[in-house]
Amino acid sequence: MSVIYVAGNWKLNNSPGETEEFMKNLAALKPEFEDKENEVEAIICPPSLSLERACNHKPPWLLLGSQDVYYEEKGAYTGEDSPTMLCELDVGYVIVGHSERRKIFGETDESINKKINKLLELELTPILCVGEDEKEREKGVTFPVIELQLKKGLCGTTKNGLDNLLIAYEPVWAIGTGKSATAKDAEEAGKFIKDTMVSLGASPEVPVLYGGSVNPENIGEFVSQDNIEGVLVGGKSVNSDSYKELLEKASEASL
Ligand code: PGA
Repeated sequence: MSVIYVAGNWKLNNSPGETEEFMKNLAALKPEFEDKENEVEAIICPPSLSLERACNHKPPWLLLGSQDVYYEEKGAYTGEDSPTMLCELDVGYVIVGHSERRKIFGETDESINKKINKLLELELTPILCVGEDEKEREKGVTFPVIELQLKKGLCGTTKNGLDNLLIAYEPVWAIGTGKSATAKDAEEAGKFIKDTMVSLGASPEVPVLYGGSVNPENIGEFVSQDNIEGVLVGGKSVNSDSYKELLEKASEASL
């Protein structure tokens, strides 16, 4: 049985009250998809203010992630979230280097690298986001861009660390635009990412997710690619009905 990751990145959506409602709606679902073909790893990444509410109301089979974290554990870092504080909550995953953090908040490969290595030290699983923007795609430099992001983001990461993270291929031009990459594009990037990871010392099994305008209609196509093990979904994960649909479609996809 293969595992398919269906990770939801809510971004700045779903207040604590809305999160509680989402979790209650979702709690009724599991029996409908647990006997299906594929095992699904369902992960939701709420805004940090809603994380604790999510912990308290989530169904037991749902895993939680954070959308970002700082690399220091405590101290004079106003406004940041600590990775050790995350460990006190029932959080297993952390998205690192999302393109919105890179573009809007000036996140660099260097700080991404510090975050990745800190998370691995604490046994939290990073979901490292990589991907080209529209100009880079037009210039035909998609693979060099991804390669550099991986090399810089994973500088000094141990072999054990490399085997304990997820990579999300998220072409920036496909995020929130309704214009997803084709399954073939995602597959080629997935293959390139795995080869690069192997050249950095990782095992070829490193899971690669695709993200960018994934919806219940196209999820099956992405997860059935040989080198794509799941999806990272923004807009269509915010509402419990459409997230349920994503889980159901993933569980039925032919791999
Ligand atoms: P989207 O976002 O599904 O709304 O395109 C994906 C993401 O940013 O992870």
